[in-house]
Amino acid sequence: MSRIVYVNGDYVPEADATVSVFDRGFLMADGVYEVTSVLGGKLIDFDGHAVRLKRSLDALDMAEPMSKDALLEIHRELVIRNDLTDGMIYLQVTRGAPADRDFAFPGPDVAPTVVLFTQSKPGMAEAPAAKTGISVISIPDIRWGRRDIKTVQLLYPSMGKMMAKAAGADDAWMVEDGFVTEGTSNNAYIVKGDKIITRGLSTDILHGITRAAVLRFAREAQMQVEERNFTIEEAQDADEAFITSASTFVMPVVEIDGAAVGAGTPGRVAKRLREIYLEESRKAAV
Ligand code: PDD
Repeated sequence: MSRIVYVNGDYVPEADATVSVFDRGFLMADGVYEVTSVLGGKLIDFDGHAVRLKRSLDALDMAEPMSKDALLEIHRELVIRNDLTDGMIYLQVTRGAPADRDFAFPGPDVAPTVVLFTQSKPGMAEAPAAKTGISVISIPDIRWGRRDIKTVQLLYPSMGKMMAKAAGADDAWMVEDGFVTEGTSNNAYIVKGDKIITRGLSTDILHGITRAAVLRFAREAQMQVEERNFTIEEAQDADEAFITSASTFVMPVVEIDGAAVGAGTPGRVAKRLREIYLEESRKAAV
């Protein structure tokens, strides 16, 4: 079955879904995106993603293309039209396609480009990697200084994932001034005793929607949370490590730069947080 994709107001088969070669997303990475997971045909953390989309758009002086309700409607329509049970919905908004290539932003007459499509991942919540944990390598964080804006400039994260693959690892954690910033497409955590440690929010990292939910659930479950910087050495020496994102939920990290973390198997805290996150998110899904 051909996927049905949303492009600028129309639902079309993926082969017919096109945007202009002058689109600023294509020419200048002048666009922002969101990835919302779908479990059992329902959207996880939709509100959080809608709020962050607005934050990204505001930060780049881009107008909101439509209301939150209209966005929700498109997400739901795509779930139905593609018979999606488990997977993700990718949403991208760019500053549109002016008549020519120009560094200056176009005027308000140029409409934003809005594209949404589904990615089916049956059994996504039961990913085998969650049982074994993943390995990461460390790489320097050479991204730009506004990582809190979810832009489509994903070349370095892509390179980071390729560096990890070449090293026989699953992913990479980025390091700046000696401290871990985040994973290539996820937030990074360590656990020491009963304490969950993760870098505080700033322009240095993306403000993960899964991060916000997981930290809230952790605090509600009386777990201690410390938002501070940590090094790769501290992480290698920790009892546990894990990552969070809309596509991996809570995923244990069992090896960092070749060194086993804790017992080298998924830890108690990460496993518990994954269970709580999945259970609570499913309950709140829309
Ligand atoms: N990535 N940090 C970075 C750099 C990310 O790209 C992401 C998400 C996160 C986690 O954010 P959230 O919990 O809101 O998904 C942190 C998405 C999943 C992606 O690019 O596919």
